[in-house]
Amino acid sequence: MKIKKDFLWGGSIAAHQCEGSCREDNKGLAIMDLVTAGSHETPREIHKSLDAAIRYPSHQGIDFYHRYKNDIALFAEMGFKALRLSIDWARIYPNGDEKEPNQAGLNFYHNVVDELKKYHIEPIITLYHFEMPLHLVKEYGSWTNRKVIDFYLKYCETMFESFKHKVKYWVTFNEMNHIDPQTDTSDFFTYMIAGLKYSELENKSQTLATVGYNMTLASCLAVKLGHEIIKDSKVGCVFGIEPVYPIDSNPINVLNAFKQTDRDFYQIDAMCNGAFPEYKFQEYQDQGIEISITQKDRSAFSEGKLDFIGINYYASSVADYKGADKGKNTLFGGLQNPYLVSTKWGWAIDPVGLRYLLNYTYRKYGLPIMVTENGLGAVDEITPDGKIHDDYRIDYLKQHINEMKKAIEIDQVDCLGYLTWGPIDLVSATTGQMSKRYGFIYVDLDDNGKGTLNRFKKDSFEWYKKVIQSNGTSL
Ligand code: BG6
Repeated sequence: MKIKKDFLWGGSIAAHQCEGSCREDNKGLAIMDLVTAGSHETPREIHKSLDAAIRYPSHQGIDFYHRYKNDIALFAEMGFKALRLSIDWARIYPNGDEKEPNQAGLNFYHNVVDELKKYHIEPIITLYHFEMPLHLVKEYGSWTNRKVIDFYLKYCETMFESFKHKVKYWVTFNEMNHIDPQTDTSDFFTYMIAGLKYSELENKSQTLATVGYNMTLASCLAVKLGHEIIKDSKVGCVFGIEPVYPIDSNPINVLNAFKQTDRDFYQIDAMCNGAFPEYKFQEYQDQGIEISITQKDRSAFSEGKLDFIGINYYASSVADYKGADKGKNTLFGGLQNPYLVSTKWGWAIDPVGLRYLLNYTYRKYGLPIMVTENGLGAVDEITPDGKIHDDYRIDYLKQHINEMKKAIEIDQVDCLGYLTWGPIDLVSATTGQMSKRYGFIYVDLDDNGKGTLNRFKKDSFEWYKKVIQSNGTSL
């Protein structure tokens, strides 16, 4: 297999990390609007209400809200075939439970989509990328409450109806897989996904299982709805997966590593195999977790199968083993791999892991896969004449694209596209920093929100342009 002619080269962005204009045009507060800036060493804080003296990075973003035309023109100059962008639910339904949508919010996204289409850039819309209206958390308890599924579906219906003649590719959720009832997680991950702090949950396992189940169900119902409203739509869901390797060939280490990787797949099983997996119900039962599945739910699982699987890939890790140095934990609790180097933020650089993951997932489901995020978060230096020599980023992307090509051309994985994370610098989700940059386009803004917001092309800009022009042959 070769990389297809219509392969979707491009990038991915998320509303809360780039738009800014947090209260403009009647936008409601969404969960990430209450999260402060942090760093690798200092975790972001999650506030219950806004404090006027504090800076919340999502309120400013990179001002994409007003500069989208300029930014999209730069993406077009690189030859982008696709842009994955998320919708801030609180722009469409400011509280989440209104009867009518906010027209100004819809207008903004119509303008963005029209601008993309002007350059023949395919819009790929993520309906939920850590952007839940705060009111739904406070009043309804977020995804623990089935009513929230109805609000989400109403919002999806509004979006599908409004954009049915313009948008073919949809993503129901970004990275719900970090909701994991089986292990300890962090406040930050449960908050980003569901607006709930892990440490404050009363019955942790039960709550996380309920949230995971309800979100999975919501995704299947949204897929079904998307298919009904837009006949030729392609509806997928995006998962952020870190393959977990064994430290050696000791069978118990191999098994533990398999189990840890597999933990991230129960929701994909439910969304692709036509039923919520029995093994998961069994696990819940063994742990005293109660999940009630209705006949309607069963139909939803069988009728709402995904058209494609989105994979966000950044790093791999090593499963825990006897005698491990626990001090070197990665983002999701895995251990560092002695064969790999890590970024400044501790993310192991593992291009082969992308080929491994593409194979693993494709062999499991046989569905087309889209690489929906990949990239290197790094500190960039701007020279006095406005140049950014980011050869380290080019090197990272080159190696990853090479491995993706092997997955397609040698291993026959059906891959729809490759989208880099943050093709323009934006706010880091985990740290809230601007200095953790991923872009081909530099944004003059620092971690304190100071800067002109002017855009500059990095060396990687011209490099990616050639990659796209040559359909991945010139790396
Ligand atoms: C992904 C998220 O998991 O990782 C993005 O979908 C996020 O929202 C990206 O920005 C990179 O993480 P970070 O913390 O470096 O921004």
